[in-house]
Amino acid sequence: MVKKVLITGGAGAIGLQLAKYLHEQGQEITICDNLCKKDFKDKDLKEFMKNVNFIKLDLTKLSELKKLKKDYDYVYHLAAINGTKYFYEMPQEVLRVNTLAMINILEWFKTSNCGKILFTSSNEAYASTISKMGGPIPTPEEIPLSIDDVKNPRWSYGGSKLIGELFFVNYARAHKFNMSIVRYHNSYGPRMGFAHVIPEFLLRIIKKENPFNIYGGEETRSFCYITDTLRATQLVMESNKTNGEIVHIGNNNEEITMIDLAKKMFDLFEWHPKLNIQPAPQGCVKRRCPDLSKIKKLTGYEAKVDLNEGLKKTYDWYLDYYKKNKK
Ligand SMILES: NC(=O)c1ccc[n+]([C@@H]2O[C@H](COP(=O)([O-])OP(=O)(O)OC[C@H]3O[C@@H](n4cnc5c(N)ncnc54)[C@H](O)[C@@H]3O)[C@@H](O)[C@H]2O)c1
Repeated sequence: MVKKVLITGGAGAIGLQLAKYLHEQGQEITICDNLCKKDFKDKDLKEFMKNVNFIKLDLTKLSELKKLKKDYDYVYHLAAINGTKYFYEMPQEVLRVNTLAMINILEWFKTSNCGKILFTSSNEAYASTISKMGGPIPTPEEIPLSIDDVKNPRWSYGGSKLIGELFFVNYARAHKFNMSIVRYHNSYGPRMGFAHVIPEFLLRIIKKENPFNIYGGEETRSFCYITDTLRATQLVMESNKTNGEIVHIGNNNEEITMIDLAKKMFDLFEWHPKLNIQPAPQGCVKRRCPDLSKIKKLTGYEAKVDLNEGLKKTYDWYLDYYKKNKK
């Protein structure tokens, strides 16, 4: 039977690709989004929107959720303000929007006839535990969540995800509905915005920046190509074994420092500028790598796309974008 799916934040980086991915499988897709990200008011989005139901609404206003039907099989809650620069530039909005949108979607969901809801959390919710308390790497789901400095605006986002996880777990328990929480770990790919490290490096390579500035350098990340992120997200949503569970999504086959990431890109895209290493931003997380044994056990998921392959595909999209828009 055709599944009816609602994706909040479906015009965003992961949201639109999730919508396309599920649409290609024949699922009936509704996207709701307030289109607050200027980056994504593009041709790609406009073209695809013709194939799906699109509802423009602001999830921070509970009354606007009346525009939604109440019979979706699956609700993917992705709407949020995301992107490191926003955590520093407007932490009060990150907190307000992410928290109100999350509470409102839960208030709406608990009175609906929908089947299951999934919350997209982040490794930022536990990053302080790693940096301040020496948590394990690769990191399993049971790690305590924490915020190491309330006064550092960076943690507005991690805080909103931490509180979101608490709300989802407790609403689902109290109102007896099905839900899962996923914690994404550095997803990347084509059309993934400009506020993350991979698109930022790629655009600077395309523009032939020399010297090439890197803020930090020894920090590590493990990057997950978008098609792996999407497959994992659907597997978590559609499995009964993941009901009530928190599950890490990522690719831990290659944990890489920012300097090595830059050098890998220089080799792949044949541009070898001088490196200029600057201090890392305050609160920048030193290491990040998920333990993926739980998702493998529950759903069979394993990442398939390695970093070289993913970077090449991502580069092609950004090069094309740059040529058309000269961003
Ligand atoms: N990209 C990653 O690597 C990553 C990592 C961890 C967690 N996540 C989480 O996954 C989800 C999707 O991430 P993304 O990278 O696609 O983010 P994104 O910023 O590209 O997309 C978020 C979308 O939410 C929409 N939105 C924001 N406020 C809204 C509101 N009030 N009402 C309706 N829509 C609103 C935006 O317009 C945007 O289209 C987010 O919740 C994010 O926090 C992403």
